[in-house]
Amino acid sequence: MFPFEKFIRERLSEKRFRHSVNVARAARWLAFKYNADEEKAVIAGILHDITKEWKVHDHMTFLHKYNIGVTSYEYISKKLFHSITGACFVKIILKIPDMDIFNAIRFHTTARAGMSNLEKVVYLADFISEDRNFGGVDKLRALASLSLNDAVFAGLADTIRDISHSNKIIHPNTLNAYNEFVFLKEKEKNLKIDNYDLSKLISIKSIV
Ligand SMILES: [Fe+2]
Ligand SMILES: [Fe+2]
Repeated sequence: MFPFEKFIRERLSEKRFRHSVNVARAARWLAFKYNADEEKAVIAGILHDITKEWKVHDHMTFLHKYNIGVTSYEYISKKLFHSITGACFVKIILKIPDMDIFNAIRFHTTARAGMSNLEKVVYLADFISEDRNFGGVDKLRALASLSLNDAVFAGLADTIRDISHSNKIIHPNTLNAYNEFVFLKEKEKNLKIDNYDLSKLISIKSIV
């Protein structure tokens, strides 16, 4: 049994509980494979959707109570609330102070530029967990077994394609994460990137 498994079973629907356990399992596998902390991956994975079933009112009450700000992007895309309240719930209520776990939950929906290995692991685990069955998931799982960065990049590209097709707002963190991977790929190929300043792009992470 994973840590917090009983805790989430008592608080989430059966479907969300199964998903959370599957994400923890996928996160543990990815952490082992790509040298992230397996214990942290399991904790972040199993708790990543802890507030997903809250109503908007619950999120707003929690955010207000603890004086937590959200950007207008998050305010418009209320589906993103659970990554903020989830991370804060784990830190404040469950008293887990680890910032890498906090950030892995905080950015599991949008990703961001400058993600740690643990953040990438949880972001990707949420995509490829056993209960996912979207078109292309097997291809993404295969890619995940070869390269963490390539699989996260593919997940970001898919997300951006899907959101743009539905004419919804793409969170700047997602675009920044995507662009960072493009820059890094260009750098790996030793192509000229003189016109771009990667450090400026990465520094965006410090304001969100
Ligand atoms: Fe989520
Ligand atoms: Fe999830």
